Amino acid sequence: MNRDFFGYDSVEITPDGTAVKILDQTELPNRENFIYLSKLDEIIEAIVSLRVRGAPAIGIAGSFGLTVILKGLHLRDSGRYLIEFERISAQLIDARPTAVNLLNNIKRLKVRLHYELSNCDCSVSHLERVMLEEAIRVKEDDISANLKMAEYGLSLLKPGSTILTYCNAGHLAVSRYGTALAPVYLAKSRGEDIKVIACETRPLFQGARITTFELNKCGIDTTLICDNMAASVLSKGFADAVITGCDRVASNGDTANKIGTLSLSVLAGFYKIPHYVIGPSTTIDPLCESGDEIVIEQRAQDEVTTRWFSSRIAPEGVKVYNPAFDVTPAELISAIITEKGIYRYPYNFKEI
Ligand code: MRU
Repeated sequence: MNRDFFGYDSVEITPDGTAVKILDQTELPNRENFIYLSKLDEIIEAIVSLRVRGAPAIGIAGSFGLTVILKGLHLRDSGRYLIEFERISAQLIDARPTAVNLLNNIKRLKVRLHYELSNCDCSVSHLERVMLEEAIRVKEDDISANLKMAEYGLSLLKPGSTILTYCNAGHLAVSRYGTALAPVYLAKSRGEDIKVIACETRPLFQGARITTFELNKCGIDTTLICDNMAASVLSKGFADAVITGCDRVASNGDTANKIGTLSLSVLAGFYKIPHYVIGPSTTIDPLCESGDEIVIEQRAQDEVTTRWFSSRIAPEGVKVYNPAFDVTPAELISAIITEKGIYRYPYNFKEI
């Protein structure tokens, strides 16, 4: 796939390593506005308010953010560097508790930090350099994982297929290319057409605002539907597969993804259409035995009652339940695709 197929990445670090540059996804589809973040509270705010979102993109923004914040502290002592690393990491990981990529990336940076500390009498500038190097590798590894998943995903689709997708698991949710949408871009780069039906994805409309935006930008045939149209669309045979991303996959294959994914998976089973989950191995949590252990992020009521509308769509005081994710049981998922291969039920990700 051409490196510049989209024109930009949604998460980058500035060449001097002093700021994380992100596309503010809350402004899509109306404005492509890039913002620069260098302070802990700015990065946490950007993650919590979904300026940067999608499990892999959060993982990359958080890893870059950690190196940027540590650099900005102008520390002189490597022992202090480690203490601050722990303090800042804990706050970043807490920003969005369900997606596990950031936790896994931070674990990777921590292993490298301990390795450096145990092998040399390091200066802080040395630690800053290696942490930046490792964070850049995290992003590069995500890019190559996406390319591999694109190949695996496309191998499961017949030419000319239509997929139904949910939320946004495309270029803007990752380092580059996407997870669920990566096969679509790969097909396009080979002159084949995979069509996409995108669900709106209430309450924050990642499907309507972001998925259709990025697919349109890349000339992919895309049809937007409201979430409650999915059953009807699948019953009519309009889609050949449901393909979604993931935020945390338990070792038994139970998968947390955007709230509403479970309904689609049940529907896909009923209408005998495969449900494929595509995500890098950084989305797998081998320590989590089943979906019951996955912490589901609860979000503010106004996302359901007010946000995106010029006036309230529900009365003041109404009770609201707003979980950001649901868990699809492993047995409903036809295949889980990572950069390491295509896995089928029963899943065992204890060793991945
Ligand atoms: O709340 P969001 O927009 O961060 O939710 C995103 C999703 O659920 C995606 O499907 C998931 O993170 C995979 S992105 C490749």
